[in-house]
Amino acid sequence: MTDIKKGLAGVVVDYTAVSKVNPETNSLLYRGYPVQELAATQPFEAVAYLLWNGELPTEVELARLRATERSYRVLPADVRAGIDLVPLDAHPMDEVRTALSLIGARDLAGSGSVLDASGSAAENLSRSIRLFSVLPAIVAYGQRRRRGQQPVAPRDDLDYAANFLWMTFGEEADPVVVDAFNRSMILYAEHSFNASTFTARVIASTLSDLYSAVVGAVGALKGPLHGGANEAVLHIFDEIGAAENVVPWLDAALAEKRKIMGFGHRVYKRGDSRVPTMKAALDTLVAHYDRPDVLALYETLESEFVSRKGIYPNLDYPSGPAYNLMGFDTLTFTPLFVAARIVGWTAHVIEQLGANALIRPLSEYNGPDERHIEGYVPDDAVLSAAERPEESAG
Ligand SMILES: CC(C)(COP(=O)(O)OP(=O)(O)OC[C@H]1O[C@@H](n2cnc3c(N)ncnc32)[C@H](O)[C@@H]1OP(=O)(O)O)[C@@H](O)C(=O)NCCC(=O)NCCS
Repeated sequence: MTDIKKGLAGVVVDYTAVSKVNPETNSLLYRGYPVQELAATQPFEAVAYLLWNGELPTEVELARLRATERSYRVLPADVRAGIDLVPLDAHPMDEVRTALSLIGARDLAGSGSVLDASGSAAENLSRSIRLFSVLPAIVAYGQRRRRGQQPVAPRDDLDYAANFLWMTFGEEADPVVVDAFNRSMILYAEHSFNASTFTARVIASTLSDLYSAVVGAVGALKGPLHGGANEAVLHIFDEIGAAENVVPWLDAALAEKRKIMGFGHRVYKRGDSRVPTMKAALDTLVAHYDRPDVLALYETLESEFVSRKGIYPNLDYPSGPAYNLMGFDTLTFTPLFVAARIVGWTAHVIEQLGANALIRPLSEYNGPDERHIEGYVPDDAVLSAAERPEESAG
């Protein structure tokens, strides 16, 4: 019997130097640094630099990255026009996927044959920085157009996180909110061989281009078992309404064998290493917006679910309500995840191409035994008949 690893659970498929998830010690390291330390001390741009280059930037390197980031913040008019073709009631992840595909097609136009598609490490780093820089404009424009609002031009005097909030809401965010948002971006930036990153690596391994890898990753991230969970958490919060409804709601949900979004993880079984940092950011936002009701619902559902099932929250559990308090529409949450994870995806694409092997696993066939179409005469039978003229004449 072949030992099938359904869902590739527990299978180690390659090396990576980008990040290390250790469920035993409940730790997550980006290029060796604990993510909690990075979230507490660094701007998202510096963490992006670290994930791409392996080291934190010097002041000069950070200033250079920030200058480049500012130079690509504006949504190109033709990409905006392409987004406008996406129906307003389509899911925003379809809009993001379309925009990134269009950017890739524009960028690679006239670039020659498929043999040139994968690009050099330097080209791919530039492409990665451009995608990282323009994604806030794509996400902000999406939320604004759904609300019937005009786009807001970026502000050169604001860093990445503050400018992202500015372009989304058209007003300068409080530093408490900017800080919580910056932390969430860092926590979402990278997580080893998760489903979307693995998708990106599979696509890159065929020597396709980085944009195709990223577009495929967006598709994988959309699913509620992966990135879509942060949106799904808010749907659950809306359904429950208030802390006092948690017990009857959970009784019914578990009786129906529903999955409770924002809980559980393929790798972490005793709690997600990123949750305490994001929960602390949520606590700050709850105090800032004076919304103890949100905290009561959050904590009641968490303690009830954990005590009944022994399954702990993942990052999407605190980030969903945090993004809601910041003012993001529920449908915008997973696109925010894209804006952060673009860094991890592209770092992995570059790493994959640096030591490439086509990713092509095997499967164990369990379909019908060999069978044949009635009346079909195989080509070799026809040929052999033609080679025997006395038989075919007769
Ligand atoms: C993330 C997830 C897919 C990982 O799951 P996995 O390692 O494949 O494990 P399974 O889905 O097989 O779950 C194992 C058991 O725990 C249960 N379980 C896991 N997560 C659960 C959840 N969130 N709610 C209810 N039950 C859950 C499963 O029903 C299963 O029970 P069973 O053995 O009685 O059938 C899963 O926990 C899940 O669906 N979570 C909700 C979605 C989510 O928050 N995703 C974001 C992940 S960062």
